Amino acid sequence: MKLKAVFVAGGMPNVTYVDRNHLSLEKKFRTELAEGYKIVAITGPTKSGKTVLCRKVIPAADCIWVDGGQVENPDDFWTSIVRSLRIPTEESENITGSATFSWQAIIGIKSQITAGSTVKYPAPTKKEILTAMRSSELTLVVDDFHYLSPAIQQEVVRSLKSEIFDGLTVVFIAVPHRAFDTISAEPEMEGRYAHITIPPWSIDDLLSIPAKGFPKLGMTVPDQICRKMGVEALQSPLLMQRFCGRVCTHYEIIETIKPARNFDPTDAILEDIYKDVAKQFGFPTFEKLAKGPQSRSKRNPRRLKDGSGSLDIYQAILMAVGKTGPKSKLHYDEIRDNLKDLLQEVDIPQKHEVSNALGHMESIAKEKIKGEPVIEWSSDYLYITDPFLRFFMKWSNIKDFSFAE
Ligand SMILES: Nc1ncnc2c1ncn2[C@@H]1O[C@H](COP(=O)(O)OP(=O)(O)O)[C@@H](O)[C@H]1O
Ligand SMILES: [Mg+2]
Repeated sequence: MKLKAVFVAGGMPNVTYVDRNHLSLEKKFRTELAEGYKIVAITGPTKSGKTVLCRKVIPAADCIWVDGGQVENPDDFWTSIVRSLRIPTEESENITGSATFSWQAIIGIKSQITAGSTVKYPAPTKKEILTAMRSSELTLVVDDFHYLSPAIQQEVVRSLKSEIFDGLTVVFIAVPHRAFDTISAEPEMEGRYAHITIPPWSIDDLLSIPAKGFPKLGMTVPDQICRKMGVEALQSPLLMQRFCGRVCTHYEIIETIKPARNFDPTDAILEDIYKDVAKQFGFPTFEKLAKGPQSRSKRNPRRLKDGSGSLDIYQAILMAVGKTGPKSKLHYDEIRDNLKDLLQEVDIPQKHEVSNALGHMESIAKEKIKGEPVIEWSSDYLYITDPFLRFFMKWSNIKDFSFAE
């Protein structure tokens, strides 16, 4: 068996798929789908396994998948469904595929067929598209629903309402942050909306990934090593999959070995893996925050205590935050203490300056970075909700990055 069929970071895992049975996620989801007549909303933190759960439970042939990230206007939404349904828009008379046939049966033949000529089908209406889906018992899945603008969300929910009443099954996937305000705003949707939350991954949940994967490759890796990786994965199954894969490639194992062997990577090897993985995750987000808002005035350089150079206030704050671990929730006092350790006394920013900069970073997180805000600054507490940002800050040297103007 090949390595990439075992540890899958960023796609659909099969061998290392973990059902986290104690949470009954699959069961809850199947129950809602079986009951029908509602929108089933799946929410959970970024990269926590929302798409994976959905793909596992609903076979690809039974659903039409719309990617919220690809939808810029309402037309994109409907055309992407039409494309997946393979509804013809134009066809020669003597070629009649089965898809065409069932489609004609649903909408009726709208154009007169003249022998030998090309038949043009008029663009189907929303109602026809949805009826076609319902008749073929296809589930509509809208992944990353939070990427749709509120106006499109509203339009979609309104168009779906009556079809849901008639039995169309709809699944929305989103990060939790106010994603479903548009649904609750529709009065008739009350009671026709079910919510399934994907909880964060515990270390034991994460440990199932190496437990399933390594033996398939003929590898034994001590439990305490896997546990160390589980801690560094910061509740992310994606990071855990990646670490396991990197342990394999470190020993040049790219497919199952026989006989099975024991592997015991040192801390230094693991740290190299983390540093290397950190280069692939979190940087684009970090870079946007570290640049701060566009401003014409030059920022004061803050000289480092160790004499190795200077940082502007945004970079200095992020570096101070990184030195806390970084934790997912930290108080201003901890940031200040770390700024004191980092910067020369005269260059340490005042509280209002730090607060101001963090406020700007929060706005950048809300306005310039897609998805759920990666950081939040409120009542003297900084919340870092994105595990990849935390991981990046822990394992990369912020001073290594130059920030182009
Ligand atoms: N149930 C699972 N078992 C094993 N690995 C998983 C599981 N769910 C997610 N992962 C890992 O995390 C990655 C991201 O999952 P995904 O479903 O795409 O996240 P989301 O849709 O929540 O952003 C997957 O590619 C896989 O590496
Ligand atoms: Mg997803």
